Amino acid sequence: MLLCSNHAIYTGWTTDINRRLSQHKSGRGANYTKMNSPVELIYWETQKTNQTARKRELALKKMTHQMKKNITNGEIFKGKNNNRFSIYEFFVSSPGRVNLLGEHVDYNGGPVLPAAIDRSVSLWANRKENLFFNIKTEDLNQEVSFSLDSLMGKKDINQQTLPDWALYPAAVIWAAHQKNHPISGFEAIFSSNVPIGAGLSSSAAIEVAFAALMREIGRWDMDDMELALMCQFAENEYVGVKCGIMDQFACANGVENSALYLDTSNLNWYPVTLPKDIAIIITDSKIRRTLSTSAYNERRNSCEEALKILKVNIPNIQFLSEVLPEQFFQYEQLLPTTTRKRAKHVIEECYRVRLAVEFLRNTDIHGFGQLMKEGHISLRELYEVSLPELDLLVELANNFEHCYGSRLTGAGFGGCTVSLVKEKKSLEFIEYMKKEYSKSTGIVSDIYICKARDGVRVEWRRIN
Ligand code: GLA
Repeated sequence: MLLCSNHAIYTGWTTDINRRLSQHKSGRGANYTKMNSPVELIYWETQKTNQTARKRELALKKMTHQMKKNITNGEIFKGKNNNRFSIYEFFVSSPGRVNLLGEHVDYNGGPVLPAAIDRSVSLWANRKENLFFNIKTEDLNQEVSFSLDSLMGKKDINQQTLPDWALYPAAVIWAAHQKNHPISGFEAIFSSNVPIGAGLSSSAAIEVAFAALMREIGRWDMDDMELALMCQFAENEYVGVKCGIMDQFACANGVENSALYLDTSNLNWYPVTLPKDIAIIITDSKIRRTLSTSAYNERRNSCEEALKILKVNIPNIQFLSEVLPEQFFQYEQLLPTTTRKRAKHVIEECYRVRLAVEFLRNTDIHGFGQLMKEGHISLRELYEVSLPELDLLVELANNFEHCYGSRLTGAGFGGCTVSLVKEKKSLEFIEYMKKEYSKSTGIVSDIYICKARDGVRVEWRRIN
């Protein structure tokens, strides 16, 4: 939005804000601003595509002058930490994700089907002119300060080891530096309502939030897929978890009301609209895990071993996901028992996802639900990443008449299940699950009905 000399607000969209601004200033912009120059840029937002930018432009144009002024002052977020908008220059919202199907296949070139969810990291920040970073987490009430130099050794400015939560923003800054993106320091505060260690990508949401902030500050020319790849690199190389691309991809590229079908062998993806009368319900077992435990990396190593052995007989394959079930049947005896089980899960899970996306497109929710059930059994028996509490939640859900299917979601070893339930019956489902789970375990679970939302967004930026 540009403020014209007569105090009118001009609204438009552009792919190059600097160019547009200089055009307006030199009287070569829209007729309106030509007549009313000089103009001042007072507010901008970043949109994912030209299409969403056009849509947003129309919505902004329909607003009254006062409403536009309120937006530039951050008042649209009234009630949501409103005073932050007078203190901070940037506000970023980055969602968690739930995976509907395709578990432990993203580091095997397989297809996945996650969705970004309406639980997110909220990040406020101010740019600094040096290379120092001051970051607060509101939820833990902790704060760290580090420099570009100190973060290289995972230390703060007093050479103290960084706390775990600070590794994620530090990792992203480190990765950006490794990739030679222009960086400047910042002070930031963030909070999150993505439960930590629950398999809903709380850490990827933080990484993607900080990466989007840095992209905005540094005006990097980088799309959301590249942003996700940079965050995955950060997590693999700095945090030390050899995760695949699924989580960062979903947090960055989410699409409202849609699941995202991503082929991790070539990064092609498309959104698949979710049926309206189905609720996606997440049930938290309250058993916590940390991804960095060796179990995740161990699973990955088994897959690499399986690929190496199978490649001898199926030479043209690059990923385990390319092995056909009949080929696996022919050569599985060559693999040690545990490795064989891991590989079988991966190969069959890839098959399930390819089938599931067809079911979803044809709104065959029963068929989809059946594949979720099979996916869970495979994670329990072959990949061995489930726990009794997760098995119980899945069993309870599957016994509920209006639940189409349920499975653990994310890496496993604790965390959440995801269930597809007839929307009208969702409250009944929640009540039933809470009651039955606590009856057997004494644990009160948290249960959310979640909506699929857009990926990361710089929601607001104040122009000084
Ligand atoms: C974690 C990882 C992902 C993926 C899942 C399991 O969430 O970050 O890359 O491997 O586990 O599907």
